[in-house]
Amino acid sequence: MPEAQIIDGKAIAETVREEITRRAAALLETSGVRPGLAVVLVGEDPASQVYVRNKDRAAEACGFHSLKHTLPAETSEADVLSLVDKLNNDPDIHGILVQLPLPGHIDESKVLRLIRPEKDVDGFHPVNVGLLTAGERASALVPCTPAGCLVLLKRTLGDTLAGQNAVVVGRSNIVGKPMASLLLQESCTVTIAHSRTRNLPDVVRAADIVVAAVGRPQIIGGDWIGQGATVIDVGINRIPAPERGEGKSRLVGDVAFEEALEHAGAITPVPGGVGPMTIAMLMVNTLTAARRLLN
Ligand code: GUN
Repeated sequence: MPEAQIIDGKAIAETVREEITRRAAALLETSGVRPGLAVVLVGEDPASQVYVRNKDRAAEACGFHSLKHTLPAETSEADVLSLVDKLNNDPDIHGILVQLPLPGHIDESKVLRLIRPEKDVDGFHPVNVGLLTAGERASALVPCTPAGCLVLLKRTLGDTLAGQNAVVVGRSNIVGKPMASLLLQESCTVTIAHSRTRNLPDVVRAADIVVAAVGRPQIIGGDWIGQGATVIDVGINRIPAPERGEGKSRLVGDVAFEEALEHAGAITPVPGGVGPMTIAMLMVNTLTAARRLLN
């Protein structure tokens, strides 16, 4: 049995970022505008610190103006809201990203709703959610992870998405729901499966395209994957690896990768699949926001 094609998200993300770097330079040349991204981190969550550092670095590498605001965990909700308000009115800032999760005493939805939809490069504001759901993708800012998954699918399958059975496992606002909207707009037949879905292995087996976004290590068995299916694994789960000694850990996806290789036609690895695409799409959204705010 031939093994699945490994979808190289790192390489695809690199080409996207090169293209954005070129387009940002052209925008600066023609209009004097340098895309500006502000990333806000509240607290010291180690995973969030890594994500924010990577976003900041990527923005600088694309030639953007990048502003990182790191606030202590005990910062009041009012102070976070007032920072967002300041960034909303800063003409040098075109994209605002508030890293989630926020500390428990801050109302996440209140903060996300205050971000100007035109600067909402995460695509989490209800206006952007509504535009995407209504099929008005061209005027929305689309959440970065599902947008990146769609790029990977198109690079892998070309123009053949219409009519395919797509199963999205996970119903989060950040990935599952927007992913389903995007696939529906590509004319896939979309199923959203989740923890209460009956006969989940059989539902997944019927899919031509599987997007796994549950956040639980290797929860999707390799033998659940239909022969030749395309698998996009959004999960990034750190698990201890006792066989490799003290404190060592490794990253795995939501799909049992090794076993899935025997069934899938193509599959993303973890790491090196969806992860790099999320940051690349944040750069795409920031450039898009900067261009739109010009007009
Ligand atoms: N935390 C986990 N994923 C994300 C994301 O895509 N955006 C933000 N802002 N926070 C996150």
